Amino acid sequence: MGKLDDLLKEDLAAVAKRITNISELKKHEGRDVFVRGWVYRQRSSTNLAFVIIRDGTGIVQCAVKSDAPKETWKAATDVFIESVVYAYGMVAKDERAPDGYELRVKEMVVTFKGEAFPIGKDQSTEFLLDVRHLWVRSQTIVNVLKFKAYLMKAAREFLDERGFLEVQPPMFTSSAAEGGSTVFEVKYFGRKAYLSQTAQLYSEAMISGYPLVYAFAPSFRAEPSRTPRHLTEFWQLEPEMAFYDQKMNMQLQGELVEHLSHEMARKHADLLEKFKRDPKDLLAIKGPFEKMSYVKALKELNLKWGDGIGLDEEKVLMKERAQPIFLCGQPKEMRAFYMKLDPEDPRVVLDADLLAPEGIGEIVGGSERVSDYKELVQRLKEQKLKESDYKWYLDLRKYGSVPHSGFGMGSERLCRWMLKLETIRDAIPFPRTMNRLEP
Ligand code: 4AD
Ligand code: MG
Repeated sequence: MGKLDDLLKEDLAAVAKRITNISELKKHEGRDVFVRGWVYRQRSSTNLAFVIIRDGTGIVQCAVKSDAPKETWKAATDVFIESVVYAYGMVAKDERAPDGYELRVKEMVVTFKGEAFPIGKDQSTEFLLDVRHLWVRSQTIVNVLKFKAYLMKAAREFLDERGFLEVQPPMFTSSAAEGGSTVFEVKYFGRKAYLSQTAQLYSEAMISGYPLVYAFAPSFRAEPSRTPRHLTEFWQLEPEMAFYDQKMNMQLQGELVEHLSHEMARKHADLLEKFKRDPKDLLAIKGPFEKMSYVKALKELNLKWGDGIGLDEEKVLMKERAQPIFLCGQPKEMRAFYMKLDPEDPRVVLDADLLAPEGIGEIVGGSERVSDYKELVQRLKEQKLKESDYKWYLDLRKYGSVPHSGFGMGSERLCRWMLKLETIRDAIPFPRTMNRLEP
């Protein structure tokens, strides 16, 4: 057949130069172009076939008439969803086409037909998770992945512009940082190692070399909870700052969350709208966010000292609030050993969880860290942790210790909030939960 046969004789690099991305088709109205991609939908009648192709940048309807060359008509009528096709034809405006333009096909070739695609309409959530390796091609997931990539790029730019250095913490660690009950143990050449629950302790080491650092890395938690906000593997953005107190820490978090909300609303309104998020909601996010003490939260919730504030309580607190709030100063017994005691009320620590509205709850957790050696030894003791497990971490308080703070923002929780996703599982391509290790 003419043009396509010639094209496909060339090597892939040469072919790539001649292909037009579907997102660029508008610019070529009235001209002949080559497109390629995977079959997204197909339907045909006796005279006309529509093959909708997606290439990652967009989808386009390719119209093929039955009087097209025989091979082209066969290609258009004998494909499966997800078959790989090349098409050559003219870009034409057509209001009935999904994106306003269609390709009037002159030639079409199927380069890979494959088998009937197992995913159809109205599949159960469980089934879609079973075939996640195929479902990651869906427009929904691809749009989430795009959004998350832009979100994290914006977060990195925000921190880079403020003089932060991105650093790499280890993922194999020798002790638990966020409590032994959620730590994953792995074999490590005859000894035990643990998958990292947080980059924090290692970032605390690095701030003495360079005062502002952040890590964006996986965190692993053996969370037995089956909730729409827990994963066993998630990606945390964790800045750590020397010479920052908790006030400065919260200020930075507020600015980051506000910036990201506005940036996504301004630059990616199209994606937000695909998820029925009105960009105006995000433009309305405005710091400084309210700071609510644990004591005040107890009053509002009708609870007593020592009661935990979990998702249900967070939801009550956020019911009437459109802006995120900081929940501050929880009792030291309920918080991590590394959190500094509040000098004004040593029953509580200088911590804060940033709670997002709309039933999402905690999206950021942060605190000022204990920088005094004796206080840290004491805190380890109180929490029945072995000093010997934290030998190197204690060292940091022996040499050049400074006040410092930091926080961890769960990227999937942030993404879930902004995109109004029903579950956190859809904010990551291959979710890992208690019952899900495959695919
Ligand atoms: O509150 P967390 O446990 O705090 C830390 O790990 C600190 N070391 C962070 C720091 O100060 N550098 O976790 C931080 C954030 C939470 O606010 C939440 O957004 C997310 O990480 N997160 C989870 N996301 C998904 N699934 C889970 N199981 C999560 N646990 C925490
Ligand atoms: Mg937390």
